Amino acid sequence: MRVPNPPRAKDLMATARSFGTYDLAAALADLIDNSIKAKATRVDISFEPYENDVVVRIRDDGSGMDMEALKVAMRPASSNPQDVREPDDLGRFGWGLKSASLSQARVLTVVSWCDDVVSAARWDIDDIDDWEMEIFAGEEAERLLDESRKSKSGTEVIWTRSDRMLDRDVSSSLDDLLTFAISHANHRLSLVFHRYLAGEAERRLTIAVNKQPLCPIDPFLTAHNATQTLDAENIRTANGSVISIQPYVLPHFSKLTVDEQERLGGPEGMVRNQGFYVYRNKRLIIFGTWFRLIPHGELSQLTRVRVDLPNTVDAEWRITVDKSDAQLPAALKRRLREVVKRFNRRSFSVHRKKGVSLDVPEVQSVWLRYIKNGQVHYRVNRDHPMMASLLDMDSVSGSADAVLRLLESYFPIDRFLADANGSGVNQSPTSTEEFESLIHQCVINFLQVSDGSLDVDDFLVFIRHVEPFASQWAYAESYVRKNTAKKWGMKNGL
Ligand SMILES: Nc1ncnc2c1ncn2[C@@H]1O[C@H](COP(=O)(O)OP(=O)(O)OP(=O)(O)O)[C@@H](O)[C@H]1O
Ligand SMILES: [Mg+2]
Repeated sequence: MRVPNPPRAKDLMATARSFGTYDLAAALADLIDNSIKAKATRVDISFEPYENDVVVRIRDDGSGMDMEALKVAMRPASSNPQDVREPDDLGRFGWGLKSASLSQARVLTVVSWCDDVVSAARWDIDDIDDWEMEIFAGEEAERLLDESRKSKSGTEVIWTRSDRMLDRDVSSSLDDLLTFAISHANHRLSLVFHRYLAGEAERRLTIAVNKQPLCPIDPFLTAHNATQTLDAENIRTANGSVISIQPYVLPHFSKLTVDEQERLGGPEGMVRNQGFYVYRNKRLIIFGTWFRLIPHGELSQLTRVRVDLPNTVDAEWRITVDKSDAQLPAALKRRLREVVKRFNRRSFSVHRKKGVSLDVPEVQSVWLRYIKNGQVHYRVNRDHPMMASLLDMDSVSGSADAVLRLLESYFPIDRFLADANGSGVNQSPTSTEEFESLIHQCVINFLQVSDGSLDVDDFLVFIRHVEPFASQWAYAESYVRKNTAKKWGMKNGL
């Protein structure tokens, strides 16, 4: 005997709130996926604080839905993950619209229009009995929009009672929490959809948040002339799908401005964001991981490998409901490990090549090279401002000078030559933090020679011809200009 045993509506929808690990950006991304599938060219997202709530509207100018299509779209598990999808379809589970929205809010309303007919439907998780959903037609549906329709067809998703959207904490105001959440989401969406925003897909997509269009963040900085594009490779999977692998080595930080560096590194920094960037139909789904093929390290921080998956390999990669995770199929592991090792040697050499000038007359180098009795000698430059300041402080005991002489006389030449001819030697800072700490030290030295007054332009003149800043000027200058007012209270700072 068989008896029906369906889930209770309330309980299943409450569980759907926790499918995947959606944060605000991931939830918005899932809705944008739907807009892309509906051939939208524009998505407008607005956040309106309202009493203790935030109403979020995500409107697109895609193909829209009539009432029948809308009813299907609102149905939980509206399609089967095994179904074959159009090649440009970013969906898979038939859950995204519902689970992404309910992960953030308790009420999901969708208004959709096409052929001048407006339809709307609503799930309210506090008011679902027997799977009954509220629907609205005509005028009633139209009134749910706060701005009139501009496109011939389109869809607006509305979240209300957004209880899970913000990490509520009593010490911060709703406005502050919202500003923080929006700025994080903006950064993430600019990255996740950068190829759509840049017009690399079939249609260019505009995404505007509170009327501000997002600019694409290209994690490979392909437009920068110091980015190295290495040879691409295609890997054919068992089912005949082609996965393409395109590695890049990013420019050394000295070739970037602080803004470029921040956009590339994101809030987590460059070291965290190295690794594979896996795209499914040009939409970024996972990034900043080597899938444990190699460890995350300082020297591989400049390597980023673009992996393009078609949606025909979803099952093998175990794409998750929120599209924010995937697992590397075992068959690909070995191939990728070889590929990665090769790329990393290039990233290493970008770091290694960065030396600083030694024999440029107008630059205060750290080391001086001179020839005495036909023999080459290296000597620490006592006129370098940081060295001069050290010696000045220690003028009575003279031990600083003694230490410098000690370092010069006992430099391990044989060992150094062997290493330089072998696997190579890397002495230059590999992280911006090391470089920045030198700038900070230099500010202290500058204060000593300038009687305590700090002027940005004077300071820049002071370090313009001093190593290592002279060789890495783009970064040094933008870092000083950006931080002067904030960190050091300098005049003329931005
Ligand atoms: N903005 C939209 N414009 C037009 N149709 C839409 C829109 N959003 C959703 N739909 C329709 O609703 C269906 C269900 O969307 P939903 O996001 O729940 O599932 P999916 O996209 O099929 O799969 P996934 O769970 O992987 O996102 C879509 O397949 C699409 O037909
Ligand atoms: Mg979807």
